[in-house]
Amino acid sequence: MRRVAVCPGSFDPVTLGHLDIITRASTLFDKVIVLISTNATKNKASFTATERMMMIADATAHLDNVVIDILDGLLVDYVRRVQAVAIVKGLRAVSDFEYEFQMALTNKVLYEGAETVFLTTSKENMYLSSSVVKQVAYFGGDISPFVPECILDTIQKRLMKEDS
Ligand code: PNS
Repeated sequence: MRRVAVCPGSFDPVTLGHLDIITRASTLFDKVIVLISTNATKNKASFTATERMMMIADATAHLDNVVIDILDGLLVDYVRRVQAVAIVKGLRAVSDFEYEFQMALTNKVLYEGAETVFLTTSKENMYLSSSVVKQVAYFGGDISPFVPECILDTIQKRLMKEDS
């Protein structure tokens, strides 16, 4: 049986931290679906779902068993439909834990058929988040240590403050 995992997130934009988790998940499962989702509790996204999809496609082009999709609805409904066995999430610090734990338990109540699998972030990416990337880029800082090189310009151009 082919074991499919779903790796959901906002990816607004995708960072080296996300890419690390996606890459490691791709070694553990036969197929990984990176699922671009809308987090209803966050402010309006900086990139459209299609733009986020194109950036992830560029950054994961070298990974044969990774595909990308856009979620419109509940995560568990998608997971059930594609018969994924796991939901893969990255954990950076204790501060991530409570929220992720809550989501994992909720998803398990809604759908029993998949396990949430947490991968601990690499130590280089412990501090990294899309919000940090946005702040640095907005003020014209160098975001090259934080995002995949192939999408650096796209992100920088979009996020930089007009008069920087
Ligand atoms: O990258 P993020 O913002 O931490 O990702 C959170 C995300 C998008 C995975 C979560 O908000 C989600 O799963 N959204 C889809 C809607 C859903 O199923 N919500 C219930 C989860 S408890």
